[in-house]
Amino acid sequence: MLKSPYTKYNRLFVYYLDMMNIPKVEDPDIIGVWIEDNTAILFFHCNKDDLIARICHANHCEVIYQADLDYEDWEAGQQISRFQAGSFTVAPVWDEEDADIILDPSVIFGSGFHPSTRTCLQLVDKYVKTPELSITTMLDLGTGTGLLSIAAAKHGVEQITAIDNNPLACKVAQANCTYNKLETVISIQETDLRSHTPQTKGVDLVVANLYRGLLEELFQTSSFWQGNLYILSGFVKSMEPELLAALPADKLRFLERTRKDQWCFWVIAPRESKFLQSS
Ligand SMILES: C[S@@+](CC[C@H](N)C(=O)[O-])C[C@H]1O[C@@H](n2cnc3c(N)ncnc32)[C@H](O)[C@@H]1O
Repeated sequence: MLKSPYTKYNRLFVYYLDMMNIPKVEDPDIIGVWIEDNTAILFFHCNKDDLIARICHANHCEVIYQADLDYEDWEAGQQISRFQAGSFTVAPVWDEEDADIILDPSVIFGSGFHPSTRTCLQLVDKYVKTPELSITTMLDLGTGTGLLSIAAAKHGVEQITAIDNNPLACKVAQANCTYNKLETVISIQETDLRSHTPQTKGVDLVVANLYRGLLEELFQTSSFWQGNLYILSGFVKSMEPELLAALPADKLRFLERTRKDQWCFWVIAPRESKFLQSS
């Protein structure tokens, strides 16, 4: 996350330690820490070899991988700059003038440059703006930077819960809600969806841009399908057959099935959905 005196990202210095439970790192140059598969991944704006050596010594752990790279390379060679998606102009915090949404993308998925984020954003824009649906509540599963929730809130969705299991994603999403003055509309929850099935009952819109394995688990959980409308992505064409097989097909209706590059997007309404009752 950006903290003064930093106003943008230039180079990233990344250290992977073979330990999850490292104490909180207080350092002016830290961007954040990811905890993943028994590994702590620390991101800094500058070289921190000495600090990392001290952390390893104090905690009896080792560096298993280290890299320094341009921020653009972290973002797959894409320079993060303002872009238009649906009716939104999204801009990074270092170029915020005249933008509808301001974002600190940090090192978290959801800068808007991945095709799955971009198309989900367009779909959220489209459905949330549809007057007949009158969407007022939303669940954003795997929120990343919080971009999809922020977009929905900008269109007037009143109550949004945004969930992620990555603590740094939650901090970044919270900061992005604050940048966009939406802290009272969007509630960020640090929760692991593998162990906590989300409460979809009565929710107007459920957005889940996740990964195949987790989607498959959710699809097979009958209580997952108690919302009214679903925008789903995070899988490619070759994964579709397995995911289709995991759906309770007789209980659902596809409203849209599209693809952008190799990424797939499904818009689904359960047959019980209030949005299908009049059609
Ligand atoms: C593909 S990214 C999508 C981010 C954002 N919603 C977007 O569309 O750009 C998936 C997000 O899901 C989160 N995630 C992965 N596994 C999760 C789990 N078990 N529980 C909660 N969130 C999870 C990741 O941390 C990541 O931020």
